[in-house]
Amino acid sequence: MGEWKFDTRLIHAAQKPDPATRAISQTVTPAVAYAFTSAEAAAAVVSGEAEGVYYGRYGNPTSRVLEQKIAELEGGEDALAVSSGMAAISISLLAFLKQGDHVVVTKDVYGGTYSFLTSLAPRFGIEFDFVDCTDIEAVQRAIKPSTKALYIETPSNPCLTVLDIRALSSVAKRFAIPMIVDNTFMTPYLQRPIELGADVVVHSATKYINGHGDVIAGLIVGKEQHIHMMRKKLMGDLGQNLNSWESFLALRGLKTMGLRVERHCSSAQKIAEFLEIHPAIENVYYPGLQSHPQHLLAKKQMKAMGGIVAFEVRGGFKEGKTFINSLKLAMISFSLGDPETLVQHPASMTHYSIPPGERAKFGITDGLIRFSVGLEDPEDIIADLNQALQKIKLPKSVNN
Ligand SMILES: Cc1ncc(COP(=O)(O)O)c(C=O)c1O
Repeated sequence: MGEWKFDTRLIHAAQKPDPATRAISQTVTPAVAYAFTSAEAAAAVVSGEAEGVYYGRYGNPTSRVLEQKIAELEGGEDALAVSSGMAAISISLLAFLKQGDHVVVTKDVYGGTYSFLTSLAPRFGIEFDFVDCTDIEAVQRAIKPSTKALYIETPSNPCLTVLDIRALSSVAKRFAIPMIVDNTFMTPYLQRPIELGADVVVHSATKYINGHGDVIAGLIVGKEQHIHMMRKKLMGDLGQNLNSWESFLALRGLKTMGLRVERHCSSAQKIAEFLEIHPAIENVYYPGLQSHPQHLLAKKQMKAMGGIVAFEVRGGFKEGKTFINSLKLAMISFSLGDPETLVQHPASMTHYSIPPGERAKFGITDGLIRFSVGLEDPEDIIADLNQALQKIKLPKSVNN
């Protein structure tokens, strides 16, 4: 398996025809309970000494295939399939943090992660600091004796800030703390954080991994001993397991992920280049553009630049709303990574309840748009953008 190229492993890793039926497509096993030949055999599986499943809340055979597949694709020892990306994030943080511990977190973090850290984690006595992780010295300064983990996301949601995984993992190693990376925007097809020194990778498999907008799922990849603890003490006790049907769908989605992601990336590049020279656009954030502050790092660390483009329309809040309401092909929606082009205006949607001054701290300006480039013909997506941008009233100073 190791000698096969990534696209071949995407299809064949951890998957063989069913030995009982010779069926090539993945068998779905919804069973909750499993029969053992002896009490000793059951105890060996429960303790993790022997491979196997024993009760549906701790996993099922279909999810196990998904776990083995993502572990192989990310280059980790083992993996855990859970009920959502947020389950993956909360489990991986709670695995390393207890009362009195502190975590350093990149300041451009997904909103759900921000909410977990600022509202739920403090109820368990967990402290946090949001730090600009493009500044390695600031990260070093933020680490205290009680710091038990470094948590990053790269490229970030929604502003596409790219962080240096190798440099940050060296800092984590120097302080002997684990580094957790949210790899949702990239998938292992474009970026493999464990190869760059990360200890744990988390995914919202809801996005590009499943890729069809019909599954909520999360994945965690890491060392066997950590994954075993997360399965038994967190996923199992909190009941955050993934069911077999959703694992089947994610496994089916993974087979075409390479083709899909390549198309998302090539279309996103064309769209970012179109937007960059459009008079109604103030700024474009896409790591594939030379103007992106971490363009060179992105080229080194990522195989391609991903399918999300963020940009600011001129005119702020009102024009941002006018723009998305004028789109005819792209759909206003909260998700990303689907075949359909999905768009959202954080200031009037996800971040509406946060005052503008606070929003700005996270780079959420009034005209910011997050655009998840779908698999439609890129010319159609560009034509749609173009007609919607014509609805924006430009200030007189801008030469149209
Ligand atoms: C970067 C990132 N991480 C995690 C999540 C959470 O994933 P889920 O909705 O599957 O819980 C999201 C959701 O948008 C995301 O964009």
